[in-house]
Amino acid sequence: MKISFANPSKPKAGAVVVGVFDGRKLSKSASELDKSTKGAISKAIKASSFKGSKNHSLTIMTPTGTRLERILCVGMGKPESLDELAFENIGGRIYAQLNAQSEKAHVLIDEIDGCKLTPAEMAVHVGIGSRLGSYKFDKYKTKKKGHAKPVIKELSIQCVGSIKAKSDFAKQNKVVDGVFFTRDLVSEPSNVLYPKTLAAEAKSLSKLGVKVEILDKVKMQKLGMGSLLGVAQGSAHDPFLVVMRWDGAAKKDKPVAFVGKGVTFDTGGISLKPSAGMEEMKYDMGGSGVVIGLMKALAGRKAKVNAVGVVGLVENMPSGTAQRPGDIVKSMSGQTIEVLNTDAEGRLVLADALWYTKERFKPQYMIDLATLTGAIVMALSGEYAGLFSNDDKLAEDLANAGKVMDEKLWRMPMGKAYDRMIDSPAADMQNISSGKGGGSITAAQFLKRFVGTTKWAHLDIAGVTWEKKGTPTVPKGGSGYGVRLLDRFVADSIEK
Ligand code: BES
Ligand code: ZN
Ligand code: ZN
Repeated sequence: MKISFANPSKPKAGAVVVGVFDGRKLSKSASELDKSTKGAISKAIKASSFKGSKNHSLTIMTPTGTRLERILCVGMGKPESLDELAFENIGGRIYAQLNAQSEKAHVLIDEIDGCKLTPAEMAVHVGIGSRLGSYKFDKYKTKKKGHAKPVIKELSIQCVGSIKAKSDFAKQNKVVDGVFFTRDLVSEPSNVLYPKTLAAEAKSLSKLGVKVEILDKVKMQKLGMGSLLGVAQGSAHDPFLVVMRWDGAAKKDKPVAFVGKGVTFDTGGISLKPSAGMEEMKYDMGGSGVVIGLMKALAGRKAKVNAVGVVGLVENMPSGTAQRPGDIVKSMSGQTIEVLNTDAEGRLVLADALWYTKERFKPQYMIDLATLTGAIVMALSGEYAGLFSNDDKLAEDLANAGKVMDEKLWRMPMGKAYDRMIDSPAADMQNISSGKGGGSITAAQFLKRFVGTTKWAHLDIAGVTWEKKGTPTVPKGGSGYGVRLLDRFVADSIEK
């Protein structure tokens, strides 16, 4: 779908989209169109239950006196309630309503009394929302459904200041490119996406100016990454660690580092998972998917930041060479780990990835993302991701960025008592807690032992990586949660 911007004019064909506010109040464009269609809009509204409230809409077919296919009246609710996110949702809903109906649609945007956004800003967010909502992962369907139906090819958004809208949209659309890349990676099945092919996907960012290095098994052995390598040893697929760098700021600026769990499939290993629902574990590389998509977004919009992305890529399989419960491994940090449960593998991968990142890059902030625990899904469901941090300012900045982008974070507690629960009688620590409950917290405590004094945050995204219900801007499937949140964090807290 092409999304274009134009100054206001009278559309002659296709579909037209206009806004209607609470109390059946027509927008300026809606009332003009109402006049030129001999009251088609006001009559239709009168005859229906549509009142202009948010999330409601009304379609009027082939209005007399025009060659238009349809008029879509979108419920806008109260003008004061309209912020950036509201316009994105409106954009997503417009796409959902018109796709498979019309080939071309014109969205008419006017100034709104009581709304802080300019028409050009509204237009940008409607455009972003409709593109976000248009995402589909259907590359493996050999018979496309609904052949006969028209597919929406162009959304022309009309507003005053369309030139500015067009250039602002182009920039923000780069972030959507990053989100789509993440959604694609998360959706790929694990017979196609495994450590080597995921590393190749990351490598493809070099065409955007991202420096990409790929460390193989031998290199990791030399670095002493026994924790990550232990997870990988049961798989026929070799592990990789990928380092991506986007240098968009002055050399002297310390980088901000993003570290992702990239378990391309998590069977649980010898501590095998039950078969029901195991297919979901293809998205256990979600953290790495976000880091790769984020690097694409930052490079795409040429962000003024030095960003480092590190992803640890492994497959967790049971086999004759797999790690056993009770094995003791030595991490790159020198700390030893008793592996009591091979299904608590994400933390083992991150232990070495975090330590490596902190030692090599000495980042100002280090933020990891991981589909780390089922416990966070129990605690927060798909509404919030869990946020753990050793730095209040960083935690607050992240939570704020999450609020603005509607990728919400809930801060969880940490502390000594939880830390003690992963002490091992046989090694420096064990990979599961000896206590009861608090599984997401003890997992975070484990990670904390590998970050030293670096300002660090851990986002447990197990519950938000796969969208089960679908929203106007996040279709069912890989959500891409985290890309927009972290892009906003970079824009608001690092670039300034
Ligand atoms: N990949 C899982 C966590 C997960 C669960 C991700 C649900 C997405 C959805 C992780 O590796 C895991 O298996 N964690 C275990 C840890 C336990 C053995 C301490 C869990 O949460 O059950
Ligand atoms: Zn696991
Ligand atoms: Zn896992």
